[in-house]
Amino acid sequence: MTLRAIVTGSGGYLPERILTNEELSRTVDTSDEWIRARTGIGERRIAAADEVTSDLAVNAARDAMAEAGVGPGDVDLVIVATTTPDRTFPATAAIVQAKLGVENGAAFDVQAVCCGFVFALATAANFLAAGSHKRALVIGAETFSRIVDWTDRATCVLFGDGAGAMVLEAQDIDVDPDAPAAARGLIATEIRTDGRLADLLYVDGGVSSTGTAGQVRMQGNRLFRQAVDRIANAMVTVAERARIAPADVDWFVPHQANERILNGVVDRLALRRDCVVSTIAGHGNTSAASIPLAYTTARRDGRIKTGDLIMIEGLGGGLTWGAGLFRA
Ligand code: COA
Repeated sequence: MTLRAIVTGSGGYLPERILTNEELSRTVDTSDEWIRARTGIGERRIAAADEVTSDLAVNAARDAMAEAGVGPGDVDLVIVATTTPDRTFPATAAIVQAKLGVENGAAFDVQAVCCGFVFALATAANFLAAGSHKRALVIGAETFSRIVDWTDRATCVLFGDGAGAMVLEAQDIDVDPDAPAAARGLIATEIRTDGRLADLLYVDGGVSSTGTAGQVRMQGNRLFRQAVDRIANAMVTVAERARIAPADVDWFVPHQANERILNGVVDRLALRRDCVVSTIAGHGNTSAASIPLAYTTARRDGRIKTGDLIMIEGLGGGLTWGAGLFRA
C-alpha cells in the first residue's frame, strides 16, 4: 500500500465585475481584435474595491470543501499560492484559515507567481504522501488587477482576478510500481526555477526595496519564446515518471496565459485538441488561480469525470515552471 494525495474536491470563484476588451480599448490604445488574435482573451473579472485575495480564496475553498464533503475540522493544511497577498504578513493562508474556521495544522503561502498552483500542489502532495498531514486545502487566489499598470497596454490586457481550490486527502491505496498512473491521486510533479530569467516578468517594487507593492513589468516576446519549450519539457518529465506518453492524458488543464502558448504545447506534444481545457477567453490570466479555476469549470460542466487522467502545467515570473499529473 502507498500513501497518496487524492483530489476529492475542487472549487472556484470569480468576482462579479466583468471587464471586456471593448471597455479596455477606451482607456488604452488597443482593440478587441488585437487582444483576441494575440492572446485568445475576450474578457476578465476584476475584484470589487472591498474584496481582497483572501475573500476570493475563501469562496473557492468553500466550494471545494462542499464537493469533497469536508468541514473546517477535517483540514490540517492550508496552502495558498498567491502573488497578491492581503498583507505583507501574516500569510494569506493564515487569514484564509481563520475565515474558514480551520484550527488544526499549518497554513502558509507559496510564491511562484503564475506557476504557484503547481508548486503548491506539489508541496501539499509531498506533505500528504509523507504522512505528516491528512487533508490539505490547496488554493490559488489572486487580485492581479491591483498590481497591473493600467496604462501599459502590453500587460494590462492579459490579467484578471479569481480563485480556485482543491481538497487533497492522504489515502493508503494500491499502486502498481510498473503502472503508477493507473491508480487515483497525484502521480508525479516537476517544479523548476531559473532565477537568471527574473527580468522577463516581475514587479518593479517590493517591501524591502521601494516600500511599495510595485507594478507588473514584462518582456512579453522573450517570455513567449521561453514558454513552450520549458512547459513541454516539464510535461515530458512528468509523463516519463508516470510511465505514460503525454498524449495518453484524458485532459490537459494548463495555466491560462495565452492561447498561442497552449496551442504551441499541444502541437509540440501531439496532444488531441479536444483534450484542452481553456478558460482563457472568459477569465484571462488569473495567475495562480487559473489551473484550479479551469479544472473546476470542466469538472462542473461534466467533461472531467472521476478516474480521468489530468495533466496540469504552469509558467510564471521567477522564472518558474512545472507540470503535474493526477488521476481525478
Ligand atoms: N494592443 C495593441 N497593440 C499592442 C498591445 C495591445 N494590447 N500590446 C502590445 N502591442 C503592440 C506593441 O507595442 C508592438 O508594437 P510595435 O511593433 O509598434 O512596437 C506590437 O504590438 C508587437 O508587440 P510584441 O510584444 O512583439 O507582440 P507579441 O506578438 O509578442 O504579443 C504578447 C504580445 C504579450 C501577447 C505576447 O508576447 C505574449 O503573450 N507573451 C507572453 C505573455 C504571457 O503569457 N505572460 C504571462 C506569463 S504567466
